[in-house]
Amino acid sequence: MCTESAALSNRYPEGFRPEALTGAAPGPLLAHRSRRRFSDRPVTEADLTSLFVTAQSAPTSSNLQLWTVIHATDPALRTRLRALCGGQQMLTAAPVLLVWVADPSRDAVIARQHGGTGATAGLLETTLTAVVDVTIAAQTLFAAAELHGMAGCYIGGARNHPEELATELSLPRGAFAVFAMALGWPDSGDTAAVRPRLPLRSVVHSNTYRPIQPEEVAAFDAATTGYYRTHGRADHQSWIRQITDRLTDPATMHGREQLVQELRDLGVGLG
Ligand SMILES: Cc1cc2nc3c(=O)[nH]c(=O)nc-3n(C[C@H](O)[C@H](O)[C@H](O)COP(=O)(O)O)c2cc1C
Repeated sequence: MCTESAALSNRYPEGFRPEALTGAAPGPLLAHRSRRRFSDRPVTEADLTSLFVTAQSAPTSSNLQLWTVIHATDPALRTRLRALCGGQQMLTAAPVLLVWVADPSRDAVIARQHGGTGATAGLLETTLTAVVDVTIAAQTLFAAAELHGMAGCYIGGARNHPEELATELSLPRGAFAVFAMALGWPDSGDTAAVRPRLPLRSVVHSNTYRPIQPEEVAAFDAATTGYYRTHGRADHQSWIRQITDRLTDPATMHGREQLVQELRDLGVGLG
């Protein structure tokens, strides 16, 4: 069990810990960490239903509710989804696999059935609304799961092959999977720790934007390198190297560099 003060000291680089927290209660979500290994303990129907109800209770733009979540339970389907999402083991091993879909199509169908055209479903604004809606719903569920003692990890690999994924899930035209999510009860042997983040001041600005300072980048890079070393991630170099590669080399996008064309082919609104 990770205490909040231990989480806080892992979270921020030495010398950049927020000082104004005395007396405030940051809460247990401060200790969030992505976990990709799970125990055999099943997630009950009651637990899942409670999580879905919580997700549906999240705010949604104009109450449009432009999202759908697909609970993938069929092992054969999960094996195929795994192949489409970068082969990541948690897609088949996690007790629960959810695919979160930005979905203007349901409302567009209803609009057409009631004298409308559904034309604004073709706009980028509607797509952004759906992506925001599905993300808020998903993170509300994820936070509720963590508060309940469960563990999980998002899977952006769901955007590697959007058309094939849409076919596997029989998604209607105009809908697409934004990410998947593995969920379960944590494996007692899982060593995932609270990961460092940039100094608070690098991302929370007062009144106007303030570019990040070199010493903030250096402190965070050192903290992250220390994290990788401690947690045996020899495959990872420094954070600076990692983001530089990611924001330079299209090959690091695993096919997602073609996303606009694939989304267009799926009928997703980009206009
Ligand atoms: C939208 C999204 C997609 C992600 N996709 C993956 C993924 O495909 N595979 C993976 O192992 N982790 C994935 N992650 C987890 C991130 O790598 C993780 O959140 C990040 O490294 C910070 O670590 P932490 O969550 O433990 O603080 C994803 C996270 C988010 C929010």
